[in-house]
Amino acid sequence: MGTIVEVRGLVKRFGELAAVDDVSFAIEQGEIFGLLGPNGAGKTTTISMVSCLIDPTAGSITVDGNEVATAPGAVKSTLGVVPQEIALYPTLSAQENLAFWGQMYGLSGGALKSAVAEALELAGLADRAKERVEKYSGGMKRRINIAAGILHKPKVLLMDEPTVGIDPQSRNHILETVKQLNAAGMTVLYTSHYMEEVEYLCDRIAIMDHGKIIASGTLNELRDVVGGMDVVDVKVTEVTDCVLDRVREIEGVKQADRTDGAIQVLTPSSGSVLGKLVATLESEGAHVTSITVTEPNLESVFLHLTGKSLRD
Ligand SMILES: Nc1ncnc2c1ncn2[C@@H]1O[C@H](COP(=O)(O)OP(=O)(O)O)[C@@H](O)[C@H]1O
Ligand SMILES: [Mg+2]
Repeated sequence: MGTIVEVRGLVKRFGELAAVDDVSFAIEQGEIFGLLGPNGAGKTTTISMVSCLIDPTAGSITVDGNEVATAPGAVKSTLGVVPQEIALYPTLSAQENLAFWGQMYGLSGGALKSAVAEALELAGLADRAKERVEKYSGGMKRRINIAAGILHKPKVLLMDEPTVGIDPQSRNHILETVKQLNAAGMTVLYTSHYMEEVEYLCDRIAIMDHGKIIASGTLNELRDVVGGMDVVDVKVTEVTDCVLDRVREIEGVKQADRTDGAIQVLTPSSGSVLGKLVATLESEGAHVTSITVTEPNLESVFLHLTGKSLRD
């Protein structure tokens, strides 16, 4: 299919801070590409440069053969953007908001009308199209925000943390919408700090932290970063630095880090480690409330590479 978005050596500095620090990635036509990273990683800054909202300090971005620096108009018409901050007029209805955005994209007449109707259907809000947006729940606003981004049927859709702070039902609806758009041929760049969403949706993933991409590949390729290891999550009453140090000294423990209310241990052989792990924790006064052994996921990959949890 070929590359549709290419980002090379991208840098954005705000004074001393390199918010995006030499980032390169390529998105293939037809895939869902995930940018996963904690708050402050540089995801929004990256998306803002791809969508021509802010100028890079250095580096180049090409979208469908057009350079952002020299042909921003062509780039913008190829892109749909769903920003993190909701951009709707609260006193207008969903239908009126979408009609406004459609006109901004140059749609009018019958084409505008059918684009709005289709987008409302996709958002699952056709039956409430005439209500003022200010009466909508947070999740419904997000769904309309997404509908606004796809009115002009862009080749590439950029979505910046579209599910933050909403109800599970709207969240599921949004995830299914992304799958549906992608199945119809849209390429998607999806940013999130929720590893479950990225695991569920994305064909390939770049993990970002402090402005840099620290790992990238398919889910299986990323799991191989902690390849051959079991992930042991131990919930304990209290995790102190001292307890962590003792756990790290146990034979067979490759890595141990603090997650929320738990310790995550990487080990090549959980079977031989579990007994010693429990004994050590109990002797340190950290009461074990549960233990789960799983395969590595993106959270453990992130923990392994950075020593901190995605949710911090
Ligand atoms: N306009 C700005 N001026 C100064 N610093 C900024 C600006 N925008 C973002 N930053 C900083 O750049 C870093 C990356 O931010 P951002 O791209 O929003 O991260 P993310 O979207 O991954 O949470 C953060 O440290 C943030 O505070
Ligand atoms: Mg952001």
